[in-house]
Amino acid sequence: MNDMTIPNPIEAARVAPPAPLGMLAELTHRCPLSCPYCSNPVELDKRSGELDTETWKRVFSEAAAMGVLHLHLSGGEPTARKDIVELTAHAVQVGLYTNLITSGIGVAREKLEELANAGLDHVQLSIQDAEAENADKIAGLKGAHSRKRIFAGWVLELGLPLTINAVIHRGNVENIEALVNMALEFGARRVEIAHSQYYGWALENRRQLMPTRDQVMRAAATVERLRDELKGKLVIDAVVPDYYAKRPKPCVGGWGRQSLNVTPQGKVLPCHAAETIKHLEFDYVTDRSLPDIWANSSSFEAYRGTSWMKEPCTSCPRKEIDFGGCRCQALAIAGDPAQADPACSLSPFHAKITALAIKDAVADAPDYIYRRFGATSGNARVQITRN
Ligand code: SF4
Ligand code: FES
Repeated sequence: MNDMTIPNPIEAARVAPPAPLGMLAELTHRCPLSCPYCSNPVELDKRSGELDTETWKRVFSEAAAMGVLHLHLSGGEPTARKDIVELTAHAVQVGLYTNLITSGIGVAREKLEELANAGLDHVQLSIQDAEAENADKIAGLKGAHSRKRIFAGWVLELGLPLTINAVIHRGNVENIEALVNMALEFGARRVEIAHSQYYGWALENRRQLMPTRDQVMRAAATVERLRDELKGKLVIDAVVPDYYAKRPKPCVGGWGRQSLNVTPQGKVLPCHAAETIKHLEFDYVTDRSLPDIWANSSSFEAYRGTSWMKEPCTSCPRKEIDFGGCRCQALAIAGDPAQADPACSLSPFHAKITALAIKDAVADAPDYIYRRFGATSGNARVQITRN
């Protein structure tokens, strides 16, 4: 038999997508905190199924070789992995810019020093509120807030650049100025004021978390004022809340365009909530290489580009700007991931998302449903809340 392969003309005509810029490595779903706004899936990956050290290292090498620049070491709490220093050192060695996304809880100073010595480039520390008691309530752990202050001090002592991330919701939306001041006090160069996005555990807690439109407007004005006042001292990034938006954000920079997520078990996702789209089939790094999954996995192909779109996106001049917004939000609100994101005022479901936000924001907030292992999408609400 002639072993010359005759190319399939359809395959040959398909242009390989440009490499992603960033990869989110969810090293583990284990976490000392239980924040109700967590975007992790309700069904968390167990420790027993986590990828081993060598597989993660191979995945990092493949990511670097295919052109990924930024590696976000995330979770859960990534430092809960015993091999975090070895993994970080390997990522640095293969040329990735490494960002540790951490709660700062359960990390000893020696461990942070080892990470700095391994070449860690950047630390992103989450804070829950500027007021200790409320911060601990949101985190679901007493004493968490004060430990973060100590951790931030170590980050500075070790000369690592620090970003503070604060997820904003009705439990802390009035404290934005204090949160920004706290980031300054901690010595951060950047603070992210990120309104909660309603995926995973946050969707289970939407009623507990949704601020009113007035609160959102006041928050936006505060951010603008502080940006002016703190120019040159602190960069303030803001993620606006979708439920009160007129136009959607280009979620994950567009599906399969700029980034990918790898779950603790090695499933490769186009975004952190992609598993909610049940008809998609995801591939594992244990079965296929990362470049192969990025270029050819049906889950990445499903909503890459614009050919999958429906009206009003198909004929919209913004379709190459926001890529129709968020597929997961379109599914959650409109019941169809190929619809325009209902955050868009042109979506036929826009009135529904606005009505949901208003209804949730004015209702009494029930107790938080804390993130925990062992829940399934149907039973997350059945649990004891903590104070
Ligand atoms: Fe974006 Fe679609 Fe809305 Fe246009 S119609 S702004 S492409 S979501
Ligand atoms: Fe999945 Fe936005 S979270 S596309």
